[in-house]
Amino acid sequence: MCGIFGIVVEQEQPLGEILVEAGRRLSYRGYDSVGCATLRDDGTIDLRKDVGKIDAVAERLRFSEMVGRRGIVQLRWATFGSPSPANAQPHIDSDGDLVGAHNGNVVNNVELRQQFIAEGMTVRSTNDGESCVHAVERYVDRGDDMITAIRRAYNDLEGDYAFVIGRVGEDTLYAFKKGSGLVAGIAAGATCVSSDLPSILPLTRRILRVRDGEIVILRADGVELRRVEDGSLIERESEEITESMEMVEKGGYPHFMLKEIHEQPTVAGELFRLLEASPHVEQMVTRMREARHLYLVGCGTSYHACVLGSVYLARLAGRPAVPVLAPQFIPQYGPTVGPEDVGVFVSQSGETKDVLNALAVARQRGMGVLGLVNVIGSTLMNESERYLPLACGYEISVPATKTFMNQGVAFLYLALRMGGHSTAILANLPDLLEETLKRVEPQVEKLVPDLAAADDLYCLGYGLTFPIALEGALKLKEVTYTHCEGMLSTEFKHGPLSAVYEGYPVIFVAGPEDVPLLVSGINETTCRGGRAIAVGEEDERLRANANDLIVLPPSDPVLNPLLATLPLQLLSYRLSLARGYDPDFPRNLSKTLTVD
Ligand code: M6R
Repeated sequence: MCGIFGIVVEQEQPLGEILVEAGRRLSYRGYDSVGCATLRDDGTIDLRKDVGKIDAVAERLRFSEMVGRRGIVQLRWATFGSPSPANAQPHIDSDGDLVGAHNGNVVNNVELRQQFIAEGMTVRSTNDGESCVHAVERYVDRGDDMITAIRRAYNDLEGDYAFVIGRVGEDTLYAFKKGSGLVAGIAAGATCVSSDLPSILPLTRRILRVRDGEIVILRADGVELRRVEDGSLIERESEEITESMEMVEKGGYPHFMLKEIHEQPTVAGELFRLLEASPHVEQMVTRMREARHLYLVGCGTSYHACVLGSVYLARLAGRPAVPVLAPQFIPQYGPTVGPEDVGVFVSQSGETKDVLNALAVARQRGMGVLGLVNVIGSTLMNESERYLPLACGYEISVPATKTFMNQGVAFLYLALRMGGHSTAILANLPDLLEETLKRVEPQVEKLVPDLAAADDLYCLGYGLTFPIALEGALKLKEVTYTHCEGMLSTEFKHGPLSAVYEGYPVIFVAGPEDVPLLVSGINETTCRGGRAIAVGEEDERLRANANDLIVLPPSDPVLNPLLATLPLQLLSYRLSLARGYDPDFPRNLSKTLTVD
């Protein structure tokens, strides 16, 4: 998840400060590298880029000296390929008369780079943003004008991205969009385009939203929209933004947690497409398949994803895998593992000390180390033999939401591949998640007044929904400060049932195949006065036995746990607000735990 910004002004002028300020406003997404390019009236391109934070790179490379009539800034969040000066963006084409930068993922990057090299182009990095530049160069070199070249390049570049490009000797920038966000801004004597509204707002509040399959042409005196399909002009009224800057950074949501919950359909779809095109999946699968013992290692939310992963691997690939809390890996399995064993270490941050300690032991014992990690360039990524990115972009709220979703998606994908199944069911997941959010939001809302005062809750599940219950309980306790325990539904009667009193809330996450078992547990609770809240598909048995039913859309049983995650996240969020807390930054917690 990178960020891009491009600007066109009337006359050549210092652009460095404007670009740095726009870059700072892209930085909340998280990034590892920064680059600026200006196109000057003398036909040259001034390109400066490096790995590091924006202010440090800007000072080191003296961005403030950069002048031009057009400028581009890009903040890179690496997905594949290490953060490096060469992979930093923007990129120039072979002979240095085009410069561009992108945001997103071009999933056929490897194939395209081979084609460009075979066609004699100069390819300087492994970054997919460079492929966007060469994809346009290819057609410009064949004599196409810029619009025609962009239209053709668009069809060659697969994935979700937005791209901005300029050519020397013109006074125009071009941008186009396929999947990732893109907004154009119209100011007096200047126009701009960006992946993110906050970087536009200091310049203007008059904007045009660009849609997939559209090219935006920026000149100092206005913007033009054209269809990629046939190059025809699009008429669209600009709009005035009235929201505060803080509201805009949160994408119109009052909290990052809610924004990130709503990003799940998008990031799940993006990860699926990335995995479909990834050369690393088969290597991971082979390594996992050949392991003597397979361990899935993580902490907190990431551990819950490991439990889900182990159920997916057993069910879909017939492969036992031991989910284990990272610190416990050391005494419980550390003395027994060796080079024949493999661990999949799972972490959003890739910097959790508990996970890195376990990883160090695994490496000392010669065990194979694979990673599932969101932050590229993190220690876990660097220490893993192979890794898969979670591709969620920056998760700002302390409670993990979208990264849990994509950890689940990644494990489901690996299990399907290991079991020799088609991965096609995952193509439906974004729509199902979208539908679930729409359906469950009002249902969750109705429960809030009754549950807001509860200081004790249980969250129970079985099989595929056991890890969802664990994760739901963690989310609830993390942001509402209540005591909430996640447990296997069948264990409740072995002790905790004694805590139940009139109105005591117990949430049952009921997978479609486990309804009869869950109904027993529901009755054990309700007959003692407890309040049973079921989360599951529409089912008359759940309706008849539970006090409340949060209805999920019907789906394949292996997708159901991913859908069931959403109402528990939303309930946690709503209850946190009802109890007067800030769900983004719960007290006593930190996003990344780099301590023992
Ligand atoms: O960055 P990691 O995934 O390694 O973090 C592990 C836990 O600290 C983390 O999942 C934590 O439990 C979540 N913030 C809970 O929402």
